[in-house]
Amino acid sequence: MSKGAGKRASVGVGILGCGNVGSALLHLVAEHGEIIGARSGVDLRVERVAVRNVSKERSVAIADGVLTHDAEAVVTDPKVDVVVEMIGGIEPARSLILAALERGKPVVTANKELLANVGTELFDAAARAGVDLLFEASVAGGIPLIRPLRESLAGERIRRVTGIVNGTTNFILTRMTEEGSAFADALAEAQQLGYAERDPTADVEGFDAAAKAAILASIAFGAHVVAGDVYREGIAHITAADIRAAADLGYVVKLLAVAEELDGSVAVRVHPAMIPAQHALAAVRGSFNAVYIEGDAVGELMLYGRGAGGAPTATAVLGDLVDAAKNLRSGARGAIFGAPTRKPIHPIDEVESQFYVTIDVADRPGVLAAIAGVFGNHGVSIQSMQQQGRDTEAHLIFVTHLAREADLRATMHEVRELDAVERVGSVLRVVGGVG
Ligand SMILES: NC(=O)c1ccc[n+]([C@@H]2O[C@H](COP(=O)([O-])OP(=O)(O)OC[C@H]3O[C@@H](n4cnc5c(N)ncnc54)[C@H](OP(=O)(O)O)[C@@H]3O)[C@@H](O)[C@H]2O)c1
Repeated sequence: MSKGAGKRASVGVGILGCGNVGSALLHLVAEHGEIIGARSGVDLRVERVAVRNVSKERSVAIADGVLTHDAEAVVTDPKVDVVVEMIGGIEPARSLILAALERGKPVVTANKELLANVGTELFDAAARAGVDLLFEASVAGGIPLIRPLRESLAGERIRRVTGIVNGTTNFILTRMTEEGSAFADALAEAQQLGYAERDPTADVEGFDAAAKAAILASIAFGAHVVAGDVYREGIAHITAADIRAAADLGYVVKLLAVAEELDGSVAVRVHPAMIPAQHALAAVRGSFNAVYIEGDAVGELMLYGRGAGGAPTATAVLGDLVDAAKNLRSGARGAIFGAPTRKPIHPIDEVESQFYVTIDVADRPGVLAAIAGVFGNHGVSIQSMQQQGRDTEAHLIFVTHLAREADLRATMHEVRELDAVERVGSVLRVVGGVG
């Protein structure tokens, strides 16, 4: 069915999941359907909506006969041309998406977990079927990110992508920075405000950010990267003292997702890091997200906005839905997305960073020399050292020059064994240069 001059095409939409994102999408389609039709030439008809519990009260009106608990029936319904998956998790989302693609139906999804784990299987199925599989909402919610990376920057050689892609941890770290809160108090506040789940593990331990980092790395570098390839550290061990010490040195602590291409391989990691207070990412406060892209020709650019929440996320889903519907009617495939190559994953041991390290020692002669000797033995050179004395004890703060992860780890292992060392406190990477 091709669109005639001035005549709008009508596209049947099947929706899987009507929770935070799904209900916000239905609101947007109901409110903006007319504008969408006028702008894009496509009228979206919501034919079916699948949920787990049809008796649950919904925040959005759904016409009789549209709501069902049978998600498969939505996918196979001949009136449904495009499927939007907003259930989350791996199954049944994976099987439903595969079933839609096999029937030649384009799919839009917001599901980072699915893409970061079985994305290759889904993209292969979409390629075989010759239809779109779009996923703008899966990373950084409402921020247009996937499309700029794969379309606007299609000709760019991207060197590094650094993101604050988890609003919960950014909220917690912002509270710790601005109010001096302890981690546990900032987490409790995030839970009270609905930014953090009752079980905050996925956010706090960096799993959510790692899934997003895998998707970002796949798009930025055209590589197969899955969540398991991502080195991951969370923020639960960050103390208010670390944040104060970072501030004294002119830094802000953020949980970063970093993806970069190093010698033909892809290095992807999620960890807390100190970034200079003047860096654009340092100004990303509260639950906001941002992604900072460095490329050969474009230089540096940053995309900033709401990384989660029903309405912002649904905006990204709706953009994809309009694209998929237009492409379906014109017989085109919108997204430029070549077959990803199998690039090796750069081992974390080989990645180089500057490090901030705190060590508590007995304040007696020769201690500093012994510690400096251990650093030197492992080829880790010290850029600066500060000593805060406390009678018989001293608190040492080191910042290193660039050092390999493996060398720094070996250094810390040996430093811990020294008699005069009471404890190795924090070890934080410094990203974005030491001033
Ligand atoms: N929320 C955000 O801010 C955000 C941001 C970015 C991406 N995402 C992604 O968007 C997706 C949806 O998130 P959400 O927050 O909207 O989740 P949610 O509020 O938990 O909603 C999930 C929906 O899926 C339905 N559902 C669950 N199992 C089903 C099944 N077997 N068959 C049919 N329907 C089923 C649920 O039905 P009932 O309503 O009957 O329980 C519910 O309507 C996830 O992949 C998430 O990662 C969310």
